[in-house]
Amino acid sequence: MPKLIVVNRDGEETTVDADNGLTVMEVIRDNGFDELLALCGGCCSCATCHVHVDPEFAAKLPEMDEDENDLLDSSDHRNERSRLSCQIPFEDELDGLKVTIAQED
Ligand code: FES
Repeated sequence: MPKLIVVNRDGEETTVDADNGLTVMEVIRDNGFDELLALCGGCCSCATCHVHVDPEFAAKLPEMDEDENDLLDSSDHRNERSRLSCQIPFEDELDGLKVTIAQED
């Protein structure tokens, strides 16, 4: 079972097991991180699932589409590591991925 490392807004790091077939957003939400609101439920329309991804994994992530890019532009906390976690399917090859929950806008 692949593992995801989640860093919350206080900088605390937690490692969680993830089922294949879920998105990174679903893994974070299902493990009780209330900070990640994910208000739209993964429809790519809210940007409240914003995370910063460990650069080591950048090449393994799916390409960002236009909707995700536009939504991230609405965040004051966007940087080059920003992604919407609902747009990243969590698969074995992402085992050990570290994501930091972005500050709230
Ligand atoms: S959960 Fe709304 S954009 Fe990801």
